[in-house]
Amino acid sequence: EPPKLIMTKSVEEPEEIDDGRTKVTIFFGTQTGTAEGFAKALADEAKARYEKAVFKVTDLDDYAADDEEYEEKLKKETLAFFFLATYGDGEPTDNAARFYKWFAEGKERGDWLKNLSYGVFGLGNRQYEHFNKIAKVVDDLCVEQGAKRLVPVGLGDDDQCIEDDFAAWRENVWPELDKLLRDGDEASVATPYTAAILEYRVVFHDRSDSPVLDDRANGHANGHAVIDAQHPCRSNIAVRKELHTPASDRSCTHLEFDISCTGIKYETGDHVGVYCENLSETVEEAERLLNLLPETYFSIHTDKEDGTPLGGSSLPPPFPPCTLRTALTKYADLLGSPKKSALLALAAYASDPSEADQLRHLASPGGKDEYAQWVVANQRSLLEVMAEFPSAKPPLGVFFAAVAPRLQPRFYSISSSPRMAPSRIHVTCALVYDKTPTGRIHKGVCSTWMKNSIPSEDSYDCSWAPIFVRTSNFRLPSDPKVPVIMIGPGTGLAPFRGFLQERLALKEEGTELGPAVFFFGCRNRQMDYIYEDELNHFAKSGALSELIVAFSREGPTKQYVQHKMAEKASDIWSMLSEGAYVYVCGDAKGMARDVHRTLHTIVQEQGSMDSSKAESFVKNLQMSGRYLRDVW
Ligand code: 2AM
Repeated sequence: EPPKLIMTKSVEEPEEIDDGRTKVTIFFGTQTGTAEGFAKALADEAKARYEKAVFKVTDLDDYAADDEEYEEKLKKETLAFFFLATYGDGEPTDNAARFYKWFAEGKERGDWLKNLSYGVFGLGNRQYEHFNKIAKVVDDLCVEQGAKRLVPVGLGDDDQCIEDDFAAWRENVWPELDKLLRDGDEASVATPYTAAILEYRVVFHDRSDSPVLDDRANGHANGHAVIDAQHPCRSNIAVRKELHTPASDRSCTHLEFDISCTGIKYETGDHVGVYCENLSETVEEAERLLNLLPETYFSIHTDKEDGTPLGGSSLPPPFPPCTLRTALTKYADLLGSPKKSALLALAAYASDPSEADQLRHLASPGGKDEYAQWVVANQRSLLEVMAEFPSAKPPLGVFFAAVAPRLQPRFYSISSSPRMAPSRIHVTCALVYDKTPTGRIHKGVCSTWMKNSIPSEDSYDCSWAPIFVRTSNFRLPSDPKVPVIMIGPGTGLAPFRGFLQERLALKEEGTELGPAVFFFGCRNRQMDYIYEDELNHFAKSGALSELIVAFSREGPTKQYVQHKMAEKASDIWSMLSEGAYVYVCGDAKGMARDVHRTLHTIVQEQGSMDSSKAESFVKNLQMSGRYLRDVW
């Protein structure tokens, strides 16, 4: 039996003493912290409302070390809430994956959850297929397994205002909790509650008394057994190349991270998470708006001076002591649209009362439409909003806790194979560069950073970033003779370059390979046909049996990968009949959806099935792991 995992992520709080109070567990599955924030906000307000209960917020991964412990502990829960985000191709967040897999297998356990009353709030984005799939599935599974649903599942939509969705769902929760956690008379008394504005305690330092290094920045793989999002490792950029020709008005960067001597390992098909930096023009603008000197040296803390924790929601772990310039460069998301809670925090520090009123109005239920239009639809960045309300100058502890979210790592499908590049991680990244409705040029934070990075080829003083690898299930079939069909226009090519490198390495070792076709798409052969020579080489050497390219802006009509697939319908069908794996990588909103429909049509027509038969055929491919998607 494998040894039990030892959980080191959080220090276990002492178990609550049985004092007759009801225990309420609030679970979260979070990737960027939003679900966790909502879970804590629910707990904070609930604590203020109900004295008869104890509210415990728990990371799903930390809750139990294995399946048995999940079962054992969940069986004892009587009241629970789940905050669950859905990602990528309808997947759970990393920290909910283990729970989700186990829970989804639980239908056979009967009504073992009959003592549990629960509510689920989902975090998703309506633009994607599988909108809030994880929340919906868990909600259904709870009922199937005997639990009592207190409120309808909340379907948070990040495309609009997910804070409003949460607020609306929460209003359904209180009457139910009133019934369970309040005595008769009390029930009519609603405790007025205003969420506190989050704040770190800030200590300012002289340069000389601040010996602590920014350890994330300097990489500390040596000190940690695992390299993950919390413990990334410094990696130098070895190579940077522009992949588009000068004729193209867009840009796509090929980057190679040097992972020799880092302890980082990866497999073909994995993702790399990259902590990038804001442009200096962005940081300088933020310094101006905050009216603070860039060299201000400070540290942030989640406890009071006497060591007791600060009240209210627990804050994200502090970043290491550094200058304001560094903090704004590495840790603050300055270009996203501000959340309503950020507007309220700005309002609290606006010295001009009319600005404070306007900010509060935007964040209020009455300002819903204005927020949707003026902030969200116009893609106003936090800095743009701050520029409109110049009197709002929050102190640093508030700015980093409540106004600017933490800059999140960006994920890329690795475009190399460790068989070809054991000490390098290759990334293929299209530049994000758009004009927003306010006329601002939005430069994608990470893609811009990558495009401007300095490789060690060019300078000893090269660029580097803290990075880590996230494993995926996007893998070639274990038997190399199994046929593969790959579909990846644009930067969707990335993982397939890794696949093809791997197949080429196998081929050179003398391994016999099954057929592999690749559908690639770009605008124009002369502009954005990335890695053209390499692809031709893969085809010539037999790593690829057929390369099929759709050029969307060459002829009089658009040619997309799915049109090429339709032309090759009978080949695709015969490969499928021989057990082929199908892989799709790229844009989830348009391309992957259209390709899915085309695949369905091919199966229906070539296999002479009706539509529902074809659907279950495709579903079956998916269930058996033969139809894999890496989409964003
Ligand atoms: P377009 O920009 O001419 O519309 C890589 O980005 C390629 O994918 C481009 O040629 C782009 O074409 C194409 N593309 C855009 N939308 C698509 C979709 N829904 N399905 C397939 N390809 C698409």
